[in-house]
Amino acid sequence: MKLNKARGIFGLPVLTDNIIWLWVENNSLVVIDPALSQPVKNFIKENDLFLDSILQTHHHYDHIGGTEDLIKEWPNVKVIASIKEKKRIPFQNCSVKDNDQVKILNKEFRIIELKGHTSAHISFFSKEFESPILFVGDTLFSGGCGRIFEGTNAQMYNSIKKISNLPSDTKIYCAHEYTKSNLLWALNLYPEDKLIQKKLLEVEKKISLNQLTIPTTLKEEMDINLFLKAKNLKEFSNLRAQKDTWT
Ligand SMILES: [Fe+2]
Repeated sequence: MKLNKARGIFGLPVLTDNIIWLWVENNSLVVIDPALSQPVKNFIKENDLFLDSILQTHHHYDHIGGTEDLIKEWPNVKVIASIKEKKRIPFQNCSVKDNDQVKILNKEFRIIELKGHTSAHISFFSKEFESPILFVGDTLFSGGCGRIFEGTNAQMYNSIKKISNLPSDTKIYCAHEYTKSNLLWALNLYPEDKLIQKKLLEVEKKISLNQLTIPTTLKEEMDINLFLKAKNLKEFSNLRAQKDTWT
């Protein structure tokens, strides 16, 4: 991907449905959850960039798989990850915890821990962009939320609530392109829902043009994401159980 602008956040689709987010400021690059190294290396070389930092939301291999190889080539890169994951993300050199403020390139980020998908999943929130942004990993997807592998329903519900309290114009950068399948699931439960129907049409159009359907915004998700709309833990847990068995 050869860029024609000097800054922005770009999505690199890799593997089946992962998205590596690439944030470029002039000649500097920050990579979020590099599943693979080679596509990132190509991007760096094509655009003559300097790899400043790698942000890790959690330890799953499809999020950290490319990091060690990138460190080999750029040994001074800052690798930011949860202090609780020193064993599972051993190459981190900037360890953070919930509510920490960290400066990445020229911008302030707040670490928001979002337990549920894993026991120490974190996200990166900043208000210093045109609209606020959240690199949310596998906690919230457009139309869905992450599976609960290590945490409890209550932890995941609490994490989703934390996200819902962010400014409504927050742009949400999730790590997987699951939007269409999530919307089909939601429509299966609420076939008459006009907002979900409309979103599905928009998403199908983007897919037909070979575009990503992410980022989404918190405002949009509040309208179409059943997990965000759940009124209590019981409703949330029922949805999660229903989604886990939906094919
Ligand atoms: Fe994951």
